[in-house]
Amino acid sequence: MNPKLVVGNWKMNGRLADNRARVGALRGSVPEGVEVAVCAPFPYLAQLADLVAGSRLEYGAQDVSEFADGACTGQVSAGMLGDFGCRYVIVGHSERRSLAGEDDATVARKAAAALDAGIVPIACIGETAEERDADRVEAVLRRQLDALDCASLASRLDSIVLAYEPVWAIGTGRVATPAQVSQVLALVRAWLAERVARPERVRILYGGSVRAENAAALFDLQDADGALVGGASLDAEEFAAICRAAA
Ligand code: G3P
Repeated sequence: MNPKLVVGNWKMNGRLADNRARVGALRGSVPEGVEVAVCAPFPYLAQLADLVAGSRLEYGAQDVSEFADGACTGQVSAGMLGDFGCRYVIVGHSERRSLAGEDDATVARKAAAALDAGIVPIACIGETAEERDADRVEAVLRRQLDALDCASLASRLDSIVLAYEPVWAIGTGRVATPAQVSQVLALVRAWLAERVARPERVRILYGGSVRAENAAALFDLQDADGALVGGASLDAEEFAAICRAAA
């Protein structure tokens, strides 16, 4: 069994003082056998490096450029994230897909750029409510997954983390049912089984309205290796409770 991984996605939240308080409360709250990371906005990565020093808490970014250093105004390269000690970077979050128009191929290139720099990409996939209502969950997930099976990633699929985040469950308080999550996780595991030697070693997270009260049931699901937590990760006490549920 993989060690559970619980990742807090702070999204575009937090100032220096908030981050200090949150990490201060979390530093000593990483349960044995569980990996915990928080993903902060770019300007705060240096602060995080200081705040987590000497603890088991890891950190990462919420996006990365698909390009190497150079003429890309406003972007941040994977090499730069590496300089700041990021262990993880989220790629293809549905908010990036919808707000910044990122497509599946771009997400794959970002994941490859992260791996090139020694950073673990957490690649997000998930269907919208309309796609679920139209019975297109499997087709959409396959399309998103197949894009990751590209020349620059195919031999390294076992080095990425996948996060299933149904778009309709993000920030809505409407968590997917265990049956819905299990069905998708099994599909993802089967997809992996056709492509990597040890599919069980690839971690698959669930994200979408994870809270302290529903975390244990999600972690109990076969194939669920952890969670990507948005809103609840802003409350250090609740996030710590979610991490305990993973132990
Ligand atoms: O990346 C985490 C996320 O999108 C889920 O957000 O607020 O529903 O936990 P939330």
